[in-house]
Amino acid sequence: MTSNEKPIEKLPEILTRDLNANLCVCNEVIKIDIINAIANGAMSIEEVRRQTYATDGNGCCKHDVGRLIECYWGKV
Ligand code: FES
Repeated sequence: MTSNEKPIEKLPEILTRDLNANLCVCNEVIKIDIINAIANGAMSIEEVRRQTYATDGNGCCKHDVGRLIECYWGKV
């Protein structure tokens, strides 16, 4: 990633909506914080959880977090 490329520019537009809404409702983690954790090197759901506590409730947002990781790192 070049220094002036924003993390959200690596994601499809449909995944860049509601950036300030909770993606992890259980732990009130907003989507942009999860995207930033991924951009900072989190390549797994466990790593995102370690950095943000997202998915640490009953795990109901795991699919959404996994989708962001896949799209960001190009494993779609
Ligand atoms: S919404 Fe994230 S663990 Fe439930």
